[in-house]
Amino acid sequence: MKKFKTASKQSSNNRMLNRRDFLKTAAATGVGLAVATEQVFPRSSRKTPTPKAKENVSIAVIGVGNRGRHLLRLAAVQPGVKIGAICDVNPKAIEEAQKVLAQNGYQAGSVPVYTGGEYAYRDLLKRDDIDGVIVATNWDWHMPVALDTMRANKYLGLEVPGARTVEECWELVNTHEETGTNMMLLENCCYDRECMAVLKMLREGIFGIPMHATCGYRHSAWGSPKWLQPVDVKTTTEHFVKYAALRNADQYPTHGIGPVANWLDINCGNRFLYLTSVATKAKTINEYVKNHPQGGPDHPNASYNFKQGDIVTTTIKTYRGETIIVNYDNYLPRPYSRDYSLQGTNGIWEGLYRSRGIYIEGKSPKHHQWEKGDEYDKYMKEYDHPVWKDHYEKAQNAGHGGIDYFTIKDFVTCVKGNLYPPIDVYDAATWSVIIPLSERSIANGSTPEFFPDFTRGKWETREPYFGV
Ligand SMILES: NC(=O)c1ccc[n+]([C@@H]2O[C@H](COP(=O)([O-])OP(=O)(O)OC[C@H]3O[C@@H](n4cnc5c(N)ncnc54)[C@H](O)[C@@H]3O)[C@@H](O)[C@H]2O)c1
Repeated sequence: MKKFKTASKQSSNNRMLNRRDFLKTAAATGVGLAVATEQVFPRSSRKTPTPKAKENVSIAVIGVGNRGRHLLRLAAVQPGVKIGAICDVNPKAIEEAQKVLAQNGYQAGSVPVYTGGEYAYRDLLKRDDIDGVIVATNWDWHMPVALDTMRANKYLGLEVPGARTVEECWELVNTHEETGTNMMLLENCCYDRECMAVLKMLREGIFGIPMHATCGYRHSAWGSPKWLQPVDVKTTTEHFVKYAALRNADQYPTHGIGPVANWLDINCGNRFLYLTSVATKAKTINEYVKNHPQGGPDHPNASYNFKQGDIVTTTIKTYRGETIIVNYDNYLPRPYSRDYSLQGTNGIWEGLYRSRGIYIEGKSPKHHQWEKGDEYDKYMKEYDHPVWKDHYEKAQNAGHGGIDYFTIKDFVTCVKGNLYPPIDVYDAATWSVIIPLSERSIANGSTPEFFPDFTRGKWETREPYFGV
C-alpha cells in the first residue's frame, strides 16, 4: 500500500511538471492544442480570474427547449455574462425562453431572437458581439450547428452526446483543428461530486492501480408521454424515440463514460482500444404503450418494430489494460442510475447508485467488508474535490445535484479567458463514438470494434487536466 502511495505521489508531481512542459511545447509548436493553451483547471478552484480574461462576455443559446432553457437560466446568472441572443425553430420554446430572460432581469425585446427556419441560427452566428454559443438542439441538429459555430469562430459549448457517427466524430475534431476554435462538451456528469472525489483518491493512489470500472445511463421509458406519440421517424423531434426506432446501440454513453474516462486518463496517457456490445431483445416500449390507459393493444406503438434493444451492455478494453462495463438501459421500469464503480489493486468503491460502499486493503477496519454509512461519508468528505469545497453553496440550486452549475461556470470561464476546455473535442469524439461502434458490434454478433485515435497519437504525451 505504501509503495503505491509513494509511487503515485511522485507520478502526480511529474504529471504537474509534464503538464507545464507540455503546455509550453504545445504553445510553441501549435501541436495538440488550438488557439487556447491555458486551461480552466486548476483555475476553476482559484478565487482570482486569469489576468487576460475578459470581464464581460456575451453568450447565445441555440435550441432553447427543456435543456437549453435550463442552461440559459444558469448562464444568465453567471457574473459578467450577458445573454446576447437566443434561437429556436419552435415559437413556443422561444416564448418560454423569454420568460426565463424576464425572470433574470432582461427587458422584453432586449435579447435578439432568431427563429423562423432551421438555419436561422446562421444569422445569429454572423453577429460579431457573441463570444460563446451553447448548442442544446435535438440530436439531429448538434452537428450542423456545432460545426458552423466553430467556423464562425465562437467558443462552442455542445450538449451531449454531440456526434453520432464515426464520420461526425472526425468532423468535429477536424473542424476544431482547422478553425482553431475551442469547444467544450457540456458533459455535466464529469462534475459528479462522488466521481470527482474518486478522481482525487485515484490520483493520490488510494485504490492502487486502477483495474475495472462500471458506468451507464439507466433510466426508464415508464411515465414519459413521448412514447405515446405515434412514431414517424421523418417528423418526430423526440430524439430518444426517433433513434430507438432507427438504431440498436448505446445511444447515450457520455454521462456514464465521462467520469470513468477522467479516472483512467483516457486521451492523456491511456486510450480506449476496443469494445464489444450485446443487446437484449426490444420489448418494453411496446409493453408500456400496450398497457398504458392512453395507449392499448391497437395503438401503433404497441406493435411498432423498434430496433433498440432494451438493455445494451458494452465492455471496453483500454491500452493500459483496464476494462469498463457501460450499460445503456433506458426503457424498462427502474430507478435512475449511472452505475459508477471503480476497482483497483488496493480497493473498491461503489457510489450513490450502487451500494455506497468502499473497501481499502490495509485501511478498512474489517477484512473483506464494505465501509458504509458514516464511514463511507468520511472518505467522501476527506477527498471532496476543491472545486466542490469552494462552490458547494452556489451549486446546490443549479440542478442535477449541482453538476450543471460547474459545467456552465467552467464554460463561461473558458469563454472569458479563451481557455482550453476541461472537456475537449477529443473527449467528445472518443466518448460519442461508442454510439456507432456499439451499433456495429451488436449488428455483427458482438464483434470487437476498434476506437479511432482522434488525438492522432497525442494521447501518448497529453497529461491529465480534468480536475487537476
Ligand atoms: N447534460 C444533460 O444532463 C442533459 C439533459 C437533458 C438533455 N440533454 C441534451 O440536451 C439536448 C436537448 O435536449 P432537450 O431535452 O432540451 O430537447 P428538446 O426537444 O426539449 O429541445 C431541443 C430544442 O432544439 C430546437 N431545435 C431543433 N432544431 C433546431 C434548429 N435547427 N435551430 C434551432 N433550434 C432547433 C427544438 O425546437 C427544441 O426546442 C439534447 O442533446 C439532449 O441529449 C442533456
